[in-house]
Amino acid sequence: MKRSEFFDQVAAGDDPLLFLPEHQAQVQALMARIGDGRGWHVCEPGCGAGPLTEHLLQWVGPTGWVDAFDSSPGMIARCRAAHGERANLRVWLADAESVEIEPESLDLIVLFRVFPHFDNKEAVLRRLRPALKPSGKLVIANLEGSRRLNELHAGFSEAVRHDHMPCSYGTRCLLENCGYKVLDAVDEERLFFVEAVLA
Ligand SMILES: C[S@@+](CC[C@H](N)C(=O)[O-])C[C@H]1O[C@@H](n2cnc3c(N)ncnc32)[C@H](O)[C@@H]1O
Repeated sequence: MKRSEFFDQVAAGDDPLLFLPEHQAQVQALMARIGDGRGWHVCEPGCGAGPLTEHLLQWVGPTGWVDAFDSSPGMIARCRAAHGERANLRVWLADAESVEIEPESLDLIVLFRVFPHFDNKEAVLRRLRPALKPSGKLVIANLEGSRRLNELHAGFSEAVRHDHMPCSYGTRCLLENCGYKVLDAVDEERLFFVEAVLA
């Protein structure tokens, strides 16, 4: 099974990776770590069924904007169904390796629970870079550290079993190779968080 088929299958199930109650505090802490996003234009590649999308909408407020995309049609359908029509939300089907985003349009790109699944991580980072405003940030985040996440993936379907989350040092190297400067890097049991700006 291909990875995209696996995620379509997950999307069709009862639990398309929505947050558990214990995730809520972790997600609030994550948003607080990024800072004050009011009025920001945020892009969320690999949004899945959109559990973070709702938090992002609250976080940017009525003057902000969220662009959420995913390469799984099933996930996009779930995300649209969950959020309905919103004036400041766009949800669309795209692959992060080939997505077209207006240059210098984004305050924040948040790669949340998606980075391990990119076949070519550098290609994605290079693709997304021109979309950031000069003051923009890119955040790579998961609710587990890299070691724990890789252990979890090892127990999943063959389609994602080998999807690898680099440690914070490896992620830093990838970002630096692609023209970013890392400001913050945390790789703990219950949080992976790397924040970068344009170098
Ligand atoms: C583990 S799920 C997480 C989804 C969501 N971020 C969340 O936290 O629930 C990973 C998502 O990334 C998407 N994905 C994987 N590779 C992608 C790519 N190259 N471009 C866009 N989305 C991708 C999958 O379809 C899936 O919905």
